[in-house]
Amino acid sequence: METETTKTTIVLSAKKLVKILLVEDDEIDKLLVERVLAKNHPHIEFAADSAGSLSQAAEYLNRGQYGVVLLDLMLPDSQGIETVRRVKGNSPDVPIVVLTGLDDEEAGISAIKAGAMDYLVKGRVLDDVLVRTIQYAIERARLQQALRKAHSELEIKVEDRTRDLSEMIDLLKKEIMNRREVEEQLQAAMEIKSQFVSMVSHELRTPLTALKEGIRLLAQEKTGKLNDEQKEFLDLAKRNVDRLARLINDVLSFQKLEAGKMDFDFHEKDINTIVKDVYRTMVPVVKRKGLDFVLKMEDNLPKVKLDSDKIVQVLTNMVSNAVNFTERGSITLATCKRENVIQISISDTGCGIRKEDLPRVFHEFEQLARGGNRKTGGSGLGLAISKTIIDQHRGNICVESEPGRGTTFYFVLPIRERRTKDRD
Ligand SMILES: Nc1ncnc2c1ncn2[C@@H]1O[C@H](COP(=O)(O)OP(=O)(O)OP(=O)(O)O)[C@@H](O)[C@H]1O
Ligand SMILES: [Mg+2]
Repeated sequence: METETTKTTIVLSAKKLVKILLVEDDEIDKLLVERVLAKNHPHIEFAADSAGSLSQAAEYLNRGQYGVVLLDLMLPDSQGIETVRRVKGNSPDVPIVVLTGLDDEEAGISAIKAGAMDYLVKGRVLDDVLVRTIQYAIERARLQQALRKAHSELEIKVEDRTRDLSEMIDLLKKEIMNRREVEEQLQAAMEIKSQFVSMVSHELRTPLTALKEGIRLLAQEKTGKLNDEQKEFLDLAKRNVDRLARLINDVLSFQKLEAGKMDFDFHEKDINTIVKDVYRTMVPVVKRKGLDFVLKMEDNLPKVKLDSDKIVQVLTNMVSNAVNFTERGSITLATCKRENVIQISISDTGCGIRKEDLPRVFHEFEQLARGGNRKTGGSGLGLAISKTIIDQHRGNICVESEPGRGTTFYFVLPIRERRTKDRD
């Protein structure tokens, strides 16, 4: 016996309990439905409360939670579709199954439109139809709620993302504005720097010309005889004035090149003629240092388009560097053709450049750890200017060096392909 009771309890507790609010004023109809609900159903068990009017139903709904409301439309205090609307207004989440009269199936359809889950025709209510209808109504209501929840969550997410996006857009706008401002400030600063450098350089040049002229007149002894000591001091003054003039020229050149304001005068020229000229000009300087000066030129090189003054400037700076950083041995100037470029190289047997310093040699104002014992300190602009000049020729410049053994600077200039060659 005991075992049987336990079994029954287990079965009962496994059933789903659904609370039903039956709103029906007709006693017979009410009893009929209650009878069906009270029966033993396989998976479900009902606990029903009954209300005979809408106001009574409202009281029940306000007090407890119901799985389903079974609703007669013709109540003493409410009739027709209005009854559905009012229950819905009171408890929007409880599914409503409407009970209609035999001759009033249309009312059932209207009730669904007004928010009821389903309808049943009284008198036709069969046990399993009523139970199935209740189950479907509960399931549909659950799905609807889940859908509503997912929808509102999605809306919140969309709102969040939209907010994030518009914040990001605002940030980006600010960033762009800031950058523009910085760029404008930079541009203005560059312009001021350029004007300042030009102004200072020009202002320095005028007194420098006067100084040079004064020194020249003194050196020519036009103002009286000079003793040896005076000549020595005058020579020192002249060397320093020359150095200052060179520095000013370099700063001005670099400023112009950097600002793209330097004019280039390109012509088809024979590179060997230019190299020979530089060689001749520099022979005294190289010899004074006690170094050999070697010239190795490949014959019949094709002409290249270049600005000869600028190429002379590059070559002169490179030979000066070689002299400054070489104590013994030789300096070699060489030209040759390589595929579609002419290569010019300046080699020395000087102190060389440390591997870690090599990438910096073409930077402006860059002077590396003193290897040679040059007499006059430069500005560190020579190679930066040279690189910009070679870039303007669409050429390339590079350096190879071995500390203690020497350095070679190379630069190449492109050879223009001749049209006639194409026709051949
Ligand atoms: N042939 C070389 N051998 C060793 N070091 C060199 C050689 N040429 C250049 N350098 C190194 O590279 C640095 C930069 O050279 P760059 O010609 O740009 O400036 P500078 O000669 O010091 O000054 P400027 O040419 O403006 O009078 C030099 O100061 C030197 O340290
Ligand atoms: Mg130099």
